[in-house]
Amino acid sequence: MLRRRGPVRPVLGTAVLLALVACGPAPADPTLPESPALPTTPTTTPRTDSGPDTEAETEAEAEVEVEVEALGIDLTAHSTSDPDSPWVVVNPDRAFDPLDHEPDDLVTVQGHQVRKMVAGDLRTLLDAAREDGVHVTLTSAFRSYEAQHRAHAGAIARNGRVVGEQISARPGHSEHQSGLAVDFGSSTRPGCNLARLCFDETVEAVWLAEHASRHGFILRYAPGQESVTGYLSEGWHFRWVGRELATWMQDEGLTTLEDVFGLPPAGSADD
Ligand code: DAL
Ligand code: ZN
Repeated sequence: MLRRRGPVRPVLGTAVLLALVACGPAPADPTLPESPALPTTPTTTPRTDSGPDTEAETEAEAEVEVEVEALGIDLTAHSTSDPDSPWVVVNPDRAFDPLDHEPDDLVTVQGHQVRKMVAGDLRTLLDAAREDGVHVTLTSAFRSYEAQHRAHAGAIARNGRVVGEQISARPGHSEHQSGLAVDFGSSTRPGCNLARLCFDETVEAVWLAEHASRHGFILRYAPGQESVTGYLSEGWHFRWVGRELATWMQDEGLTTLEDVFGLPPAGSADD
């Protein structure tokens, strides 16, 4: 597979990419409309603009064509703004619309609720870990707007506003409200659950870092990505995006949904 060159850039479908190249930099909040699924490996797309090519534009388009051909994944297949989309992206700057969105297909796995499309992969992950001798637990999954309001208020009360905003999403902004996110726990060192300094060293965290993607989950708040995700790293918080995207991100070394979908880095939640 060809590798993309240079820093991570917006990676969209061919038609959208060509439009962005033709129109200049992405807007401040380029929320993409739903678009029909494109072939996973498009090679050519008719031009939709009519102006003459500049040399730079032609080169940029050629590079984009090569990149899209190399991807083998259609990143426009699902919306990043529809609250029911498997690829919805929320962060301190991006909220659910409506703010109190609640999925209507929640099912229960080990006492915690996730969306139906997540449940199979979650059960398979937990079983696979156990087969490897690793007992991963669940400490949280779906949280309603009201539950997140309580969690956020508690984090602010315990840690102050600055730190509280870095570790807990405001209601309407938490991936837990989507039913697509879970917090895993350590059975061998439960005292490390939700503890930034030791969870990552547990056998459960090490297993998850290596195996979660093949079950459709990504580590959503990776170390070193705080300025992109808007939150301090959380080794326990995983987000289901489906096996295809999760394994592709792992293979490509991409760690944030903002980078993958060409969304602006999250700003400070303390505005
Ligand atoms: N701890 C994460 C950021 C949340 O509250 O959703
Ligand atoms: Zn979480």
